[in-house]
Amino acid sequence: MATKLTWLGHSAFLIETEKHTLLIDPFLTGNPLASISADEAQADYILVTHGHGDHLGDTVAIAKRTGAMVISNFEIVTYLQNTHGLENVHPQHIGGAAQYPWGTLKLTNALHGSALPDGSYGGNPAGLLLSLSDGTVYHAGDTGLFGDMALIGEEGIDVAILPVGDNFTMGPKDALRAIKLIRPRVVIPMHYDTFDMIKQDVKSWAEDVRRADLAEPILLNPGDSYTLS
Ligand code: NI
Ligand code: MN
Repeated sequence: MATKLTWLGHSAFLIETEKHTLLIDPFLTGNPLASISADEAQADYILVTHGHGDHLGDTVAIAKRTGAMVISNFEIVTYLQNTHGLENVHPQHIGGAAQYPWGTLKLTNALHGSALPDGSYGGNPAGLLLSLSDGTVYHAGDTGLFGDMALIGEEGIDVAILPVGDNFTMGPKDALRAIKLIRPRVVIPMHYDTFDMIKQDVKSWAEDVRRADLAEPILLNPGDSYTLS
């Protein structure tokens, strides 16, 4: 079975590999674009890029219901253990890779903040570099543009999932510059239209990407999937 990426709205993605289900940044409750509710979410692993509420989202409730392993930076994992009693966790940190039954995850830089919803320190925010049997996926998390995206691109990225909403993260123009640095085969935009402050015309952005002949832009509606092959 090919690996399937489903956009759940905002920065939330479901990745289904042959044997495992990975949930990234499961902000479903309170997300006007969410394509599923937190009660419906299935996961074997939950990957959290940073501590902000629109990324940590329903992690605690879903982890408690499903028993999924939560993977994030050391500070967030420690907070989830101490404050919420989660036991099935795996801490990593930026630049470090770890092997899982479904592939390898390396945490990358992200230029952003990471305070947890109650104000606790959430360490540095991260991006996710996933090496799966069907390809390499880079979910940038929340980030501004940074030149070292070129180093991430050197790993050979099949699918880059980039924020384009502006205001809190890269906007469309900087996301285009990011593509020049990362050189992915396919690019999927995220973190736009959820709230008024991050409304964007992604169709015209996708045309710009196509015109620049940099990568194939894939626009998903919440609930839509892209199959990695
Ligand atoms: Ni954020
Ligand atoms: Mn965010």
